[in-house]
Amino acid sequence: MINQPIYKLSPAGLGDLNQLRAIEKACFPLDAWPMLELIGVLIMPTLVKIKAEIGDKMIGFVGGDAHRLEGVGWITTLGVLPQYQRMGIATALLDQCEQQMGMPVVKLTVRRSNLSAQTLYHARGYQQIDVWKSYYEGGEDGLILQKKL
Ligand SMILES: CC(C)(COP(=O)(O)OP(=O)(O)OC[C@H]1O[C@@H](n2cnc3c(N)ncnc32)[C@H](O)[C@@H]1OP(=O)(O)O)[C@@H](O)C(=O)NCCC(=O)NCCS
Repeated sequence: MINQPIYKLSPAGLGDLNQLRAIEKACFPLDAWPMLELIGVLIMPTLVKIKAEIGDKMIGFVGGDAHRLEGVGWITTLGVLPQYQRMGIATALLDQCEQQMGMPVVKLTVRRSNLSAQTLYHARGYQQIDVWKSYYEGGEDGLILQKKL
């Protein structure tokens, strides 16, 4: 791909807290996770957390939570800084998170109005299986998408 930035994917840790916070604020003005939740995500050893970086700058993040007894992995968050979007970075993060969770089924929730994310998920093989009414802050419905691997 022309002008593809050179980014790398690697596990995120507590040292990434400030940059993750910045990504959350930029990507989720209505739903940014509070500080304590971000710390929890970064320190819980059972969770998958992958960052995308260019040099030392974190430009994207994905979180995954494998519910092993149910055989379901949940994508808990996925965001890429606006100036680095449409470069395939979320696709790469999502694919890697699915792989690391290693579950036969992956699920996620997305705002009904978030058509850009829905386009991405459909392109990666997700299908809508349910609607959680008024799930999000502000009362918006959440669509439940699922992918079988
Ligand atoms: C949704 C989001 C993660 C996509 O990140 P990204 O790195 O730009 O995604 P990719 O470059 O991998 O996009 C892959 C495909 O998804 C679709 N897509 C992504 N963003 C899109 C947009 N704004 N409009 C239309 N389609 C879009 C396209 O089909 C795209 O392929 P293309 O660029 O070749 O046309 C990013 O826009 C974001 O962080 N948004 C705010 C947070 C968010 O909504 N997260 C998801 C919560 S469920």
